[in-house]
Amino acid sequence: MLNKKFAEDIQEGLSKRQKSIPFIYFYDERGSWLFQQIMQLPEYYLPACEVSILEEHKMSMLNHFSSKKKAFNLIDLGAGDASKTKTLVQYYHENEVKFTYTPVDLSTSILSALSESLSAAYPELNYRALNKDYWEALDLLKQNTNKGERKVVLFLGANIGNFTKDQSIEFLSTLKSYLNPGDLVMIGFDLKKRPEIIYKAYRDSKGITAAFNLNLLHRINQELGGNFKPNYFRFYPYYNPQTGELMSHLVSLKKQVVQIESLEMNVEFEQWESIHTEISKKYTINEIETLASEAGFAVKEHFQDTKNYFVDTLLQV
Ligand code: AVI
Repeated sequence: MLNKKFAEDIQEGLSKRQKSIPFIYFYDERGSWLFQQIMQLPEYYLPACEVSILEEHKMSMLNHFSSKKKAFNLIDLGAGDASKTKTLVQYYHENEVKFTYTPVDLSTSILSALSESLSAAYPELNYRALNKDYWEALDLLKQNTNKGERKVVLFLGANIGNFTKDQSIEFLSTLKSYLNPGDLVMIGFDLKKRPEIIYKAYRDSKGITAAFNLNLLHRINQELGGNFKPNYFRFYPYYNPQTGELMSHLVSLKKQVVQIESLEMNVEFEQWESIHTEISKKYTINEIETLASEAGFAVKEHFQDTKNYFVDTLLQV
């Protein structure tokens, strides 16, 4: 079946002067698998830094999450395999903290694997996996939450970095509209650092990030009857230390015309013309504070790793 939204977004993105493909389309089955490989790469420092933060600060985080030992709901947006959040879940579970774990993810297969592993590892854990998009899940939780139970929403992994500034403010403001005063949100931000380190995290030596980007073209071929030849495109990431934006592009190596049957579309590429695929924004603490206040949140605490590469910032409604 043709995914109508995908078709419309590809048509729109490839008709623009600066061609683009929305980053959300990276994550089909193969793309999600490639992303898991990226997370294992030594150059892709983000997950290891974030796990070290959660490991180091899990107790102080708990002091914020659960005032007077009251129960809370730990809502993990885009949980994936919960490789990072398990650090908290395991510790809170072992210490008999009163909480519910609510992983939210759109991928049915990833979420059912997560449910199986949670049941096997922590048979007593109170969890409820939601195979929904973020807003559907939050809507459901808004209706079903016990009065007085605090929501603690996690949005980890520097996922916010894939949004533009306006999208980030809109995302945080929408998130706030589902929460009550006193509820908390913890967001993972990748921080500005030596540019070479950032560049290498995307220009990885095994070419997995390149395959992850080129997979977009495979996906258009498969789902929309395109005839992209992925080897006529080259993945090109570049980092601008001024804006903190790591920009990912697929550059056409030659003048070419690509046909996309389902869209009845011919896409013309000049030699060296590019398709923009992703922004991965790196922040300063000041920028995070401005963003939080623009979205109407108070900053409670910044939890950083020892190298100051990454921060999990705790915000309160
Ligand atoms: C999911 N997101 C935060 C990743 C990032 O770093 O922007 C996606 C990614 N793209 C290339 N490598 C990883």
